[in-house]
Amino acid sequence: MRIAVIGANGQLGSDVLRAFANNGDEVCPLTHSEIEIADIDSVSRTLRECQPNIVVNTAAMHHVEKCEDEPERAYAINAVGARNLALVTKDTDSVLMHVSTDYVFDGRKGSPYEELDAPQPLNVYGNSKLAGEYFVRSIAEKHFVLRTSALYGKSACRAKGGRNFIQLMLKLAQERDEIRVVDSEVVSPTSTAELAQQLVALSRCDCYGLYHATAEGSCSWFEFARTIFALTGTADKLKIAGPNEFPAKVPRPTYSVLENKGLKSQGLNKFGPWQSGLRVYLEQSEFSLAKTA
Ligand SMILES: NC(=O)c1ccc[n+]([C@@H]2O[C@H](COP(=O)([O-])OP(=O)(O)OC[C@H]3O[C@@H](n4cnc5c(N)ncnc54)[C@H](OP(=O)(O)O)[C@@H]3O)[C@@H](O)[C@H]2O)c1
Repeated sequence: MRIAVIGANGQLGSDVLRAFANNGDEVCPLTHSEIEIADIDSVSRTLRECQPNIVVNTAAMHHVEKCEDEPERAYAINAVGARNLALVTKDTDSVLMHVSTDYVFDGRKGSPYEELDAPQPLNVYGNSKLAGEYFVRSIAEKHFVLRTSALYGKSACRAKGGRNFIQLMLKLAQERDEIRVVDSEVVSPTSTAELAQQLVALSRCDCYGLYHATAEGSCSWFEFARTIFALTGTADKLKIAGPNEFPAKVPRPTYSVLENKGLKSQGLNKFGPWQSGLRVYLEQSEFSLAKTA
């Protein structure tokens, strides 16, 4: 199989490239300098040169505050960009695997969201990603839309820059006497390496559709930090941040846990508990695990 990976140097895209290449597939890495998904001519020209059987789109504008400040650009990339990919993959009879987000939900359900739950985004980012999902699902018959959550991986997230949450916590632990983290936002931290394996597994199936695709279980950012410190044997200097200590400029769901119902019903769910994804990430990174952990 020939796989085009859009966002190939991104946090998720770099693991997707590795996973398909390790699977024996031929990969066509596409960075932003090679393709502009908001431009139909660029999408059409680049994909026709590549001639993939499958296109994996990890590209997005996903800095939540920037999306709120620049809604036209967010829609051009997250919605029209997804539409452009759907139109071209339909035309070339290739499969489109498109990555979406838990932020399509408002978080008020209070229990894990399934694929059939009604989305209700709270911000421009979530709305523009939901519009992208609808374009993909209505145009490209051979599509997979995967909603995921709170990604971390070996490569830095290009949109957010710098360190991921794990690296940030371990850095702060060296620099500060006290680290304050919110306990009010519940997510399923998901390893990009595991999500990439999930994309490979789905790519061998013609079970097209919408899938929730996150690590199993959930935690608050505070609990996530506590587990990072426990697994690395780092002294725990954590305190729960007060309700107004880090005021959010843009509304976000406080509970965005997804149930991988579709993947489970296909017998294709590759995700383990979030703690084991974190452990594998730490084992493979520069951070040594605590001997007792
Ligand atoms: N990160 C998270 O916690 C999270 C959570 C849920 C869902 N998601 C979704 O997961 C996906 C991957 O996220 P990530 O963390 O891997 O992001 P990332 O590291 O920022 O990677 C995104 C990639 O897309 C490229 N890109 C951006 N705009 C583009 C455009 N208009 N045309 C072509 N390429 C473009 C970027 O290139 P440049 O940097 O050069 O522009 C970058 O290579 C996104 O769809 C995001 O919505 C992420």
